[in-house]
Order: sequence, then C-alpha cells, then structure tokens
Amino acid sequence: MKNIVILISGRGSNMQAVVEADIPGARIAAVLSNNPDAAGLAWAAERGIATTALNHRDFADRDAFDSAMAELIDQHQPDLVVLAGFMRILTPAFCARYAGRMINIHPSLLPAFPGLHTHQRALDEGCRVAGCTIHFVTAVLDDGPIIAQGVVPVLDGDNADTLAARVLTAEHRLLPQAVADFVAGKLSVSGKRVQNPRSVAADAQLLV
Ligand code: GAR
Repeated sequence: MKNIVILISGRGSNMQAVVEADIPGARIAAVLSNNPDAAGLAWAAERGIATTALNHRDFADRDAFDSAMAELIDQHQPDLVVLAGFMRILTPAFCARYAGRMINIHPSLLPAFPGLHTHQRALDEGCRVAGCTIHFVTAVLDDGPIIAQGVVPVLDGDNADTLAARVLTAEHRLLPQAVADFVAGKLSVSGKRVQNPRSVAADAQLLV
C-alpha cells in the first residue's frame, strides 16, 4: 500500500475525486490544510480520514510553516504528497524534501499562466482552449515535469467562472488517474519529460 497525503486550502473537490476513485494500492493517509476553515477538511474527517489544519498565520515565516508542515506530513510516511488546491508557495527546502514524490494540480495548460487568476488570463489572451496540468513539484512555481494535461474549449460566452467549472471537470478526471499512475509505478522522469506507458492520448482529448 502506498501512503498518500493530500494538502488542500479550501473546497477540496480534487481531494474528493482522489478519495472517491478508491485507487488500488493507495491509502489516503491524511488530508492536511493551511486553512482551518477549509471545507474539504470536514468532508475528509466525516469519512474517517486523518485531518489536521496548520494555520500559516501562526508561523513567523515561510520556513517555519513549511518545517512544521513537513513534520506533520512525515508522521504519515507518505509515498506521495498531492497538492490539491494548496494555495501556498513552498520553500526550496520543502520542495527538495519531497522531490519526485510530490505532485500539484494547476488550472491552466502550463507553461501558460503559472500563478493565479489563470482563467481570466486565458480569456484576456483570447485563448480558444484552456485546461489543467498535473506536474511534479520543483522549487520553481508551477514548473515541474508534466504528468498529464486536460484540455477544454473556451466558448464565446465564457467568463472566468464558467471556464473554471469546465476546467474543473477535467481536473477531477485527471488527478485520480495521475495518482493511480504514480502508485502503479508507471511514471518515470527524464529531465522535464515524464514517460508513462499507459496511453495518455485520451487525457489530452478535448472535453466539450
Ligand atoms: C483547483 O481548480 C486547482 O486546480 C486550483 O485550485 C482549485 C482548488 O479547487 N489550484 C491552484 O490554483 C494551485 N495554484 P478544489 O479545492 O475544489 O480542489
């Protein structure tokens, strides 16, 4: 069994998708958050999953928060750490500690639109497609080796909310699959490229 620790900051719908996928060989060891009010924490706790909130406001700086979070994570002996809507910038030391075993989901087709407000930025640039990316985490924000990408169309009447909702359906499909591929040992990284013997062509199909 591979232990999975999931970090969230809010709603936690991607975390829910991973939990509900019931991935063979995976055990959701804990759901942790920097936000005590994260709705996803209550959802996970109701299902008997260990949950803890560590409020980043209680720490003097990023290093102190990340060290405490790492200590908490390591109590669960994680094989994989999943950032599922975890809205904190991580220190290089934290990223190095989980190198090769920490993945993030980001709501854009990286390398386009790292950072925040991805959907509005895609609309402002006139993009005709948008989507999400799952990648290994490195110390560079939203930049690590790409595991999977899901693509959706941008429709004429879209605003940031309608586009976000369409991208989210792709996120919910892709993240459990990426976790399953990691758990099954299918992912190998060479430079910035991730090899996956499972056919990933379907991941990139346009979701209408
Ligand atoms: C998701 O859209 C995720 O891609 C995004 O936050 C949302 C969390 O939703 N993550 C980032 O923006 C990370 N930079 P959720 O809490 O319902 O999973």
